[in-house]
Amino acid sequence: MNKKILIFPAGMPRSLEHLKKCVRDGREVIGSSSLAYDTAREQYPAWVHLPYVTDPEFDEALRQAVTELGVGEIYTPNIVVWNYLNQNLGKMLPRVVLANASPVDEVLRGYRDAFAKARYLSGNQLPLSSDVSCRPLLSEIEIAGLSRYTEMIPGMCDDDKFHALLEIARRAVRGDIVEIGNWWGKSAFIFSWLAHHFEIGKLLCVDPWTNEHLVQGEKIVDSGSEQVDAEEALRVFQIGLLPFNSNHINYLRMTSVDGAAYYAGSRSVSTEAFGKTEYAGSISMLHIDGNHAYTAVKADIESWQPFMSEGGWIVFDDYIWAFGDGPQRAGDEFLESNRPGIATAFVMGTALFIQLSSRG
Ligand SMILES: C[S@@+](CC[C@H](N)C(=O)[O-])C[C@H]1O[C@@H](n2cnc3c(N)ncnc32)[C@H](O)[C@@H]1O
Repeated sequence: MNKKILIFPAGMPRSLEHLKKCVRDGREVIGSSSLAYDTAREQYPAWVHLPYVTDPEFDEALRQAVTELGVGEIYTPNIVVWNYLNQNLGKMLPRVVLANASPVDEVLRGYRDAFAKARYLSGNQLPLSSDVSCRPLLSEIEIAGLSRYTEMIPGMCDDDKFHALLEIARRAVRGDIVEIGNWWGKSAFIFSWLAHHFEIGKLLCVDPWTNEHLVQGEKIVDSGSEQVDAEEALRVFQIGLLPFNSNHINYLRMTSVDGAAYYAGSRSVSTEAFGKTEYAGSISMLHIDGNHAYTAVKADIESWQPFMSEGGWIVFDDYIWAFGDGPQRAGDEFLESNRPGIATAFVMGTALFIQLSSRG
């Protein structure tokens, strides 16, 4: 059964965030603070004033409020209040529980996870064979920073793919990075950061950002697509990538086939959000993550292969895919018909990574 929840102090940003969550969950919420007038008050359906936690009257006032209002849980993002209640609530009000873990643990969890991941990746470098000389791995702090910000952008990129991308980027030749299929921008963000760090080149994102192009022809996948909005997806992409743009990121809002025709005719891409970006015209890394139907993946690779640099990387996302075999068939056909020109190929996580030979 949902207990009534008291949020104290009620005006902190995380308090207001928790209020929204409680309202969404249909919970009864009471706001509280020690200010004579708190502007957050209007946002709460019910309110009670409490003295400061350091005030000798605090315990009694809290006991009274909890009893009169029938409170069963207290949420507080304030570390002093949390510590005080964590130590005293059990004795004071044994039936009332703290709704959240330590605010310090809450805000640092993402950073700690990112650092743990970085430590693991640093200790487990991939022994890849490559024609291209290998630059040093990112430091643990750099990997943790990249991982932390990547986490904040919604989208699809599992830990294995993240790992492999770090490794192939340091064995990349100079040139453009082209990503087909960007949506909210998670993997595009990783490429943009690696492009900048390793001075590989500029990132060109190609995606029509329409609900129509989200349809993969797989019923179970397409049912999820109905719940997302393409205009909002583009906005999320822009919000996530723009703060990291050093004039090295831009996008073409069109299909991959149309994007390749554009790229063949022009090295310059302009958008309102990212301004004007000049591209090299040859591709160092191509990430194919658009429509996964066989004919679509085949069209992606055929349209963009002519621009690949010697030593360039091609990534077929979802080479192993629960909902179809389009990327696998197209990837295997690519391997088969380009065998003499391939330096390295491996599958990690669910993606196929191919490096073209740099010896012509
Ligand atoms: C799986 S999502 C991409 C996920 C993204 N790379 C990430 O990191 O989360 C597939 C994307 O492909 C795009 N798409 C579909 N058909 C396309 C096409 N013909 N050309 C380019 N992009 C296409 C969709 O609009 C969608 O944004």
